Amino acid sequence: MKKGRDVLLKAAQTYGTPVYVYEQTVIEAQCQKLRRHFPNVAFHYAMKANSNPVILKVIRKQGIGAEAVSLGELALAKKTGFKATETSFTCASLTEDELSSAAASGARVHLDSLTQLETWGRRALGREVSVRLNQGIGAGHHAHVITGGPHSKFGITLEDIPEALRIADTYGLAITGIQQHIGSNVLDAKVFLTSVRVLLKTAQRFPDLSHIDFGGGLGIPYAPGENQLDLKRVGKEFKILTSAFRKSIGRQVSFAMEPGRFIVAESGSLLVSVVDLKKTSAHLFAGVNSGFNQLIRHAMYGSYHSIENLMRTRGTKVSVSIAGNVCESGDLFAVDRPMIRPEIGDILAIRNAGAYGFSMASTFNMHALPRELLVSGSGQLKDISFNPTEYAR
Ligand code: LLP
Repeated sequence: MKKGRDVLLKAAQTYGTPVYVYEQTVIEAQCQKLRRHFPNVAFHYAMKANSNPVILKVIRKQGIGAEAVSLGELALAKKTGFKATETSFTCASLTEDELSSAAASGARVHLDSLTQLETWGRRALGREVSVRLNQGIGAGHHAHVITGGPHSKFGITLEDIPEALRIADTYGLAITGIQQHIGSNVLDAKVFLTSVRVLLKTAQRFPDLSHIDFGGGLGIPYAPGENQLDLKRVGKEFKILTSAFRKSIGRQVSFAMEPGRFIVAESGSLLVSVVDLKKTSAHLFAGVNSGFNQLIRHAMYGSYHSIENLMRTRGTKVSVSIAGNVCESGDLFAVDRPMIRPEIGDILAIRNAGAYGFSMASTFNMHALPRELLVSGSGQLKDISFNPTEYAR
């Protein structure tokens, strides 16, 4: 399980900071948990959470496929060994040519709109199609990541299903797949299961159906006191619901899910160094050599990440705001966080940064992207840094 400070300190001392460090055993354990609790599900890892090619290979080895949202991600999935049959593709706002390329890749494409369905038919991109639905159910840790309901740009609404079936009929298409993704970091088992139940009901409206994808969203606890998602309960009830569904329609249907965060979030830490201390009448700021260009989750969603001082375990706790090196006031990793007063030169580990950390990083302010390291099961450190712009399209 989670390695202690020693290996993280070694990583910082050997490679310098800022640096992302991921623990392979944590990723493997999360994959195994999913496969154990959902034996009848094909998993497609949402690679947007962390698209480092070495991490993708670790996940693939666990028998998990990939979910891509751009041609760049599709190309990367292929390059790292995912077969087209193990890959799915979801995206809003595609050009017609992008849609054609996605179709040509052989991955299962979940069409996001009536426009895409119409294009698919007109361009004759394949007889079987899959559609993403917006069933009006949304959930997640922040408004920006809630992807169901009238305020979400994603999917075909339930009201538009008759029109989708009509378009399919016009072009001789069979809607064989449906998909939904209600949002990200769902910690309430009931909410996730409700979305499953409702999708299974909606599925009855598609006479050619053979595949149902329940999306991602499985959450992990970030802040103290947050509960784990009860995966055992979700798995158990999921099995009951899907078995009953299979019986009711009397033919083979396959099931899929697309978790991203759940697989990688807890494996990663961003290590940064304290380079400045400053007191105002309101806050004690500890300035570090990284910023929201390397981990944007606090600046963008107000997300909580626990922060551990790797050099100090004892001392009185004070309120500290951890500030970055980007020229914007919102560039903070934590505000008034009770912690042992850090000193210049201390190394801080920003935890649970394995998902939507490096993958959302930019070179804003002309800072280089941070290095990435993998800690193997035996504790070996390996530099797995990569340049995402090589793959971007
Ligand atoms: N499937 C689809 C269609 C998605 O849009 C997403 C995430 C997933 C699967 C994976 O969701 P997950 O299992 O990771 O929750 N940057 C935000 C999260 C954005 C998620 C976008 N879509 C964050 O840092 O919290």
